[in-house]
Amino acid sequence: MRGIILSGGSATRLRPCTKVTSKQLLPIYNRPMIYYPLNTLIKAGIKEILIIVSPERAGDYLNLLGSGRQFGVKLTYEIQDKPRGLAEAFIIGENFIDEDSVTMILGDNIFEDDFTDDINNFKGGAKIFAKKVKDPERFGVVEVNNKMEALSIEEKPLQPKSNLAITGLYIYDHRVINVAKKLKPSVRGELEIVDLHNWYLARHELEVSLVRGAWIDAGTFDSLLDAQILARDRLQNKLII
Ligand code: G1P
Repeated sequence: MRGIILSGGSATRLRPCTKVTSKQLLPIYNRPMIYYPLNTLIKAGIKEILIIVSPERAGDYLNLLGSGRQFGVKLTYEIQDKPRGLAEAFIIGENFIDEDSVTMILGDNIFEDDFTDDINNFKGGAKIFAKKVKDPERFGVVEVNNKMEALSIEEKPLQPKSNLAITGLYIYDHRVINVAKKLKPSVRGELEIVDLHNWYLARHELEVSLVRGAWIDAGTFDSLLDAQILARDRLQNKLII
């Protein structure tokens, strides 16, 4: 299993805080934000991790995290020139993923859960992780039946069919590379991650699991503040880096 942290984007919603640095380098309590997703991957046993960053900030990430040796993992870096969507990560990461499966986590997603078992037990297809939220229209939304089988998946629907947000942690087999290459950009000009989920869903190869502990997408000022408090009150003793 390979790991990818997607940490690009220009985070205009967090201006002026992101004018001279990247969102994922902002502090969440006592660590830079990216430490939390990096911790999630390392704790789950992933040893080879690709960090995808925007060209302006690449040097900062290298200075902060280096080779990864101090964490007992190997870190490599790639550039995403323009924010062309989350699914582009699998095209950028093609050589890195090779014939392996891949777990991708978004650089602004903070999880309390431990995903070791999900990753160890992954046999193929795709697996996504959902969490009940009050504001599903902000996220990818999955509708499930009473066996937790996905019925539909939509990106930021105006009228969500459920209150289950799709969190920013995804496991795919290596076919994801070719599926991503065939995607067409959406109306907002991006290669959409939900189109990858839908490809696996159409083949009955998409598994949905619920996130039990806390989860925050720290992409707004309010969720950033919530993440700080969560990190101080509940995450400190779960961090290994
Ligand atoms: C992205 C995905 C969305 C997902 C969310 C989780 O949205 O497109 O499906 O629910 O991450 O954080 P973004 O935060 O990039 O708008």
